[in-house]
Amino acid sequence: MSQPSSSSNPSPGAAPARELFGTKWGFVLAAVGSAVGLGNMWRFSYVAAEGGGAAFVVVYIAMIALLGVPLMLCELTVGRRTHLSPIGALRNLGGRAWVPLGVLFVVTGFLILSYYSVIAGWTLRYAAEAVTVGFAPDPGAHFGAISQGAAAVYWHLAFMVLTIGIVMVGVQKGIERAAMILMPTLFLIVLGLAVWAFTLEGAAEGYAFYLMPDFNELLDPTVLRQAMAQAFFSLSLGMGAMLTFASYLSRDTDLNQEAVTISFADFAVAFAAGLVVFPVIFALGLQDQVSESTVGALFIALPGAFEAMGGPGRVVGLLFFLALAVGAITSAISLLEVVTSSIIDEFKMARKNAAIGMGVLIALAGLFSAFNTDVLGLVDQVAGDLFLVIGALGMSIFVGWFMKEDTAAELARGAGEGFKAVIPTVLFLVRWVLPPVIAFVLWFAMGDALAAIGDFFGS
Ligand code: PFF
Repeated sequence: MSQPSSSSNPSPGAAPARELFGTKWGFVLAAVGSAVGLGNMWRFSYVAAEGGGAAFVVVYIAMIALLGVPLMLCELTVGRRTHLSPIGALRNLGGRAWVPLGVLFVVTGFLILSYYSVIAGWTLRYAAEAVTVGFAPDPGAHFGAISQGAAAVYWHLAFMVLTIGIVMVGVQKGIERAAMILMPTLFLIVLGLAVWAFTLEGAAEGYAFYLMPDFNELLDPTVLRQAMAQAFFSLSLGMGAMLTFASYLSRDTDLNQEAVTISFADFAVAFAAGLVVFPVIFALGLQDQVSESTVGALFIALPGAFEAMGGPGRVVGLLFFLALAVGAITSAISLLEVVTSSIIDEFKMARKNAAIGMGVLIALAGLFSAFNTDVLGLVDQVAGDLFLVIGALGMSIFVGWFMKEDTAAELARGAGEGFKAVIPTVLFLVRWVLPPVIAFVLWFAMGDALAAIGDFFGS
């Protein structure tokens, strides 16, 4: 399965001596690590609850298959073909006119990591509290006290130090090694928790809400928009993360197979997380808390449930928040790597300096979110929703219309016969389906983001 490790770049015309992933599984796990994160457990469950549970899940699966996988193939192709980070890759294949899209990717990565790290800090804190003091009896008040201000700042900074520490070390020894250890751990924990949740009394109601669609919701444009934005966020698409990881791939890997593996694993973890979250919440009668709150849903309802369960709740809660923290760290690595690799390539800076320099700047920018959860929500909407959708639109237009021939050839390289047969379909989707559908959704995302910005400054 694994390829020989190589630290030199075999392709002509690319930067010399670019470090590559050592093994095929190293890349796949790092990419799955990027995809599986807070988005799967925190964002997915509250967005799914808002979007009517099962109806949302159905739309979400369609979005992943029709838009997510083709878009991931676009990013992987551009990255592996150029062996460059986003700005250089787009310049190389499209000329200077495409540099702004690469810059948007870097800005988006910077902004997402700035608040992502604050939320990750909450998960670290909850995991630590499960061991030391247990879950608070009034989870709402506790969340209010720890989610912003000095308490949030410490954990945010601790999380950023961890992330910088891994990215600084490099692709094989840092990113790949972390993913090889952390991802299997996360899978086991989530699987174990889903089995445990099955044994809860009252779990059936949770499954019913989660798994039996109310098809009226399917026609709601908000559900469609949220499902798309969630698919991009969860699969780490629209900001060059997959592009950057693929730039560390050797040329003979089957991108098609990997895009499908990564997307499936990402969906599987989100789905399994739902199999934990919904039974727990319904078993303890906390469903109102989830549908009414957004950012805090998971951090109030679930700790409340764990507290109500007493001693066993502490063990389960610890495992749950550990899994979240593990998912968060492997995603944060990819966010910082997009920014770091661009700085390395554009300014010829040493990796260590680039990772520390940019990491510190991101940590500082994150202070705004750490001090105020309204800022956090706003940056999530602008960068995690709007910018990702703009980035995805740009990427699909670029690959669909400006490097069509190259894409087919690049996808076919290393692909099995079955996958070769679907390449024309993928290219058709990228050219004719993705741009109009994403543009349609962008229209609504823009309206919502502008309204949110207006609310924020108006209040
Ligand atoms: N996919 C990550 C999650 O679901 O938590 C978040 C993320 C990571 C988004 C990397 C974008 C990205 F480039």
